[in-house]
Amino acid sequence: MTKDDKINALIIGGSSGLGLELGLFLAEYCNVFVTGRKDPQKKQLHFIPLEIKKSHLLSSDLDRVLTRVGAVELLIYAAGFHQDGAISDLEDSDIIAMINVKLTAPAMLLQKILRKQKKLSGFIAITSTSQLTPRLREPVYAAASAGLGMLARSVSLDKRVVKTLVAAPAGMKTNFWKGKTRKGVLLEPRWVAERIIDLYKMKFAYKQVLILREPPRIKTAVVVD
Ligand SMILES: NC(=O)c1ccc[n+]([C@@H]2O[C@H](COP(=O)([O-])OP(=O)(O)OC[C@H]3O[C@@H](n4cnc5c(N)ncnc54)[C@H](OP(=O)(O)O)[C@@H]3O)[C@@H](O)[C@H]2O)c1
Repeated sequence: MTKDDKINALIIGGSSGLGLELGLFLAEYCNVFVTGRKDPQKKQLHFIPLEIKKSHLLSSDLDRVLTRVGAVELLIYAAGFHQDGAISDLEDSDIIAMINVKLTAPAMLLQKILRKQKKLSGFIAITSTSQLTPRLREPVYAAASAGLGMLARSVSLDKRVVKTLVAAPAGMKTNFWKGKTRKGVLLEPRWVAERIIDLYKMKFAYKQVLILREPPRIKTAVVVD
């Protein structure tokens, strides 16, 4: 990444929190396109509205996003939302919405990008420590986060995908927790974004890291050169 030769970075879920902080860092080196439901109104970012909810609209909505961006060199998947409730508390629509946001949309995006392009230079999947920790009151979130992690690991075996980073953060101070109380000291999303950019600049083909709190620290789980 150099300032002279800007590549296109697409951040799904880049309108707030960690995705937004990543976009603000990357704007120096990339043409950054961010998606979400609310425009973050940042002049250095190109906002593309995208609501991920209903299965029958997803494919055409993602086509619209990809047409706007053109060639995607770096894809960051950061969309996600908190969902509290035991499995029997969740409605059908809750289950479908979570799976669409965390798994159907990134799978379709990778399918569409790789059908169109010969190469994807980088893929960063933001999962969660819930990817590895069973959660009684977040069963579909935990399952879909694990699914996103495995999607990224599997796609990293495709020779057209040059570099894949899976970052699984612990609790962060973002809108994810809006209106809810959370125990302990949460991670600053800006700090997490800086760590992810530093990690991404390293040489590897696949890397999975946990970004932990109390104290804030990085734990590398898997590296493939
Ligand atoms: N915060 C935490 O404690 C924590 C911990 C572990 C992992 N994570 C993961 O980190 C990632 C970033 O989350 P964050 O903490 O930065 O939260 P955030 O500030 O709420 O950001 C979430 C992003 O996802 C987008 N999004 C959510 N639901 C969407 C939907 N149905 N359709 C389209 N876009 C949607 C949001 O867009 P709009 O706001 O514009 O709708 C926003 O851009 C998520 O994948 C989350 O699961 C968060």
